[in-house]
Amino acid sequence: MAIVDELAQLREEVHRNIEQAADTQALDEVRVSVLGKSGTLTGYLRSMGQVPAEQRAEVGRLVNEVREQVESALAQRKQMLEAAELEADMAAGALDITLPGRAQTVGTRHLISRITDEIAEIFLGIGYTVASGTEVETDYYNFEALNTPADHPARGMQDTFYVVDRSGDVAAVRGESDVLLRTQTSGVQAHVMETQKPPIYIIAPGKVYRRDVADPSHLPQFNQVEGLVVDEGITFGDLAGTIDYFCKQMFGPDRKTRLRPHFFPFTEPSAEADVSCGICGGEGCRFCKGTGWVEVLGCGMVDPNVFGYAGIDPEVYSGFAFGMGVERIACLKYNVPDLRMLLNGDVRFLRQF
Ligand code: DAH
Repeated sequence: MAIVDELAQLREEVHRNIEQAADTQALDEVRVSVLGKSGTLTGYLRSMGQVPAEQRAEVGRLVNEVREQVESALAQRKQMLEAAELEADMAAGALDITLPGRAQTVGTRHLISRITDEIAEIFLGIGYTVASGTEVETDYYNFEALNTPADHPARGMQDTFYVVDRSGDVAAVRGESDVLLRTQTSGVQAHVMETQKPPIYIIAPGKVYRRDVADPSHLPQFNQVEGLVVDEGITFGDLAGTIDYFCKQMFGPDRKTRLRPHFFPFTEPSAEADVSCGICGGEGCRFCKGTGWVEVLGCGMVDPNVFGYAGIDPEVYSGFAFGMGVERIACLKYNVPDLRMLLNGDVRFLRQF
């Protein structure tokens, strides 16, 4: 058979093989068998020397033509096969929308934040505003301006974390007042009375710190909400009514409240407020240690000395103050027996609220 016919036949055959290649791998095998080192067409190119001289130009042109045609047919088929393979891959990896979905767990606000807001809303509803202070405070505002001088025995009630400087000495502001982590939010009272004129109706939520070991009723860091009212003609009756209103809003309308005499350096007279036990309803049980009452907060009438530090005239104004532990309120509201349960981050516990 003449070389020209051989080439025509080869072209036919290669085109057929290209058409029939089922995937890119098979197509590559076709390419190698024609154009590879020992491929059929490559064979023709190599043996051009043996072609009679007068046919050489014609055969050479034809071989090149066949090669170009084969190359373009290969490229076209390759593109098609690749697209088909991609499609098949995507179809195989696609989502099975009939599978049941995975449940998403939704985060919620922590109980302590929620109770803080609830307390704030009760007081905002009766005209109070929110004041804030800093967790790093001076001895002056945390103690002295609250009628608790350095030698006052009441300082022993609150073991304090002091801030020390590099040499290990207690840091001081202007060499005068020691720096500490506030043990109570009551210091905000002193700041507010220095900067605001009566009438004052504020609450001040915030973190406080004490050198206590955590146990069911103590935490070394916890949250308080302070309250302060200064106005003309404020009486102990106003204080009692406010505390009773707060407790009924927070714990429920059938709860009773009572005020028991107590001592705080910055109030005179001072009291602790109790609410009737939520578990036994006042009968007496283990939760209320058989008394029927549980302690909620400390409060009292602002001591005239405290007004003196702030420059408010106690002849014109009177006021009351109160302070409560947020964790304690949360535990009382939901009958949780141990403050530490609020802090261990167990979502099975926290999800209940
Ligand atoms: N600061 C007190 C404490 O941490 C609580 C307290 C008692 C605050 C009486 C007051 C108050 O404002 O009048 O134990």
